[in-house]
Amino acid sequence: MAVPYNTGMMNSELQLLQPYPFERLRALLDGITPADLNPISLSVGEPKHPAPQFVLDALTDSLRLVEKYPTTRGSDELRSSIAAWLCQRFALNNPDALAANHILPVNGTREGLFAIAQCVLDRGNSTSTVLMPNPFYQIYEGAALLAGCTPRFYTADENPDANLDAISDQEFDDAQMIYICTPGNPSGAVNSLSSLKKLIEKSHQHDFVIVSDECYSEIYRKQTGAPCGLLQAASAMGLDQYDRCLVFHSLSKRSNLPGLRSGFVAGDATLIKNFANYRTYHGCSMPGPIQSASAAAWSDEQHVTQNRNAYDEKYAAVLDILSTKLTISTPPAGFYLWPELAVDDQTFTQQLLQEQNVRAVPGSFLARTDPKDQINPGQNRLRLALVAPLEDCIQAANRIIQCL
Ligand SMILES: Cc1ncc(COP(=O)(O)O)c(C=O)c1O
Repeated sequence: MAVPYNTGMMNSELQLLQPYPFERLRALLDGITPADLNPISLSVGEPKHPAPQFVLDALTDSLRLVEKYPTTRGSDELRSSIAAWLCQRFALNNPDALAANHILPVNGTREGLFAIAQCVLDRGNSTSTVLMPNPFYQIYEGAALLAGCTPRFYTADENPDANLDAISDQEFDDAQMIYICTPGNPSGAVNSLSSLKKLIEKSHQHDFVIVSDECYSEIYRKQTGAPCGLLQAASAMGLDQYDRCLVFHSLSKRSNLPGLRSGFVAGDATLIKNFANYRTYHGCSMPGPIQSASAAAWSDEQHVTQNRNAYDEKYAAVLDILSTKLTISTPPAGFYLWPELAVDDQTFTQQLLQEQNVRAVPGSFLARTDPKDQINPGQNRLRLALVAPLEDCIQAANRIIQCL
């Protein structure tokens, strides 16, 4: 006879985890019969442009590396290619020192952003909050909760510099760590270099770690130019050891390789050393063939430029259509649109599927209600991921207009 699990035997912090947005979306759309049109999904932020062939070739050419255990630190080849990329992209110095002491591979930023909280946060500490944006990537919240800390949200809208300025010294004092997301998901907004410098000063004054999720940094509009990054700000301040700073980057969006599960963390040498130790026990080293393919991907920019151009084309076409009925502008980076609706976001999401067979994410699923004013900042917003092919994005935009 099966004996039911006694949930009291499990980690009670698991009970604190919120349902994931896509689980809520499935429940919201369950039972709806979509219109008899070709389905178009703008809901999941999964890139759909083709993966670069030379990366796939590097992967198949190195398959025999599965005959060896990979190291947690990653191969010299991988760390050197990442260091070279960081130096040319964010004006950093000394690629050799970077590769030696400041970089670790992670199996996608999701895994790394979660694991870093388990490594950095001290559950016995009296200051046990983790600052994070709202709306946000829900992994930050789960990571903080499972590390025994309390998430504390700060507003994240189209003015990310002002959002960081609005965090009080008391909130910084209470925090062990802050997650920032620049370019932001879903806003696509980007922090300025001076705002990142100011945050670094705060981290030294109030003793907390900055975790900067920069996984959309390469998906920027050609017209607005490349966003700056946290390590760039540290380096510009003369902090060449990147104290208290960590950045996370990914090949998922930059190189259309979401299934490769490849990214890296870079920054503060002490944090990186401790994270390497944590990861040795966790057993999450990156498989050898993935390391080789990743080294190839970080060493090429041509495919990234092509990728950016494809998103620019989609934004131009879709904005032309949507702006006839929505107040909407092209974000500086990312691949989302985040329009405000005049109607309830969840009802509209249901209606969009039922009448037009288009899937989107209701904004309220991506944010938490602010206890101060009881407002969910995602309320009456819609997140549209422009990942589908251009023709599908155009068709989806026309159908959204119909629905409005
Ligand atoms: C803000 C943000 N951070 C991190 C990730 C994780 O990306 P990956 O694990 O593929 O690098 C995502 C994925 O959608 C994201 O939107």
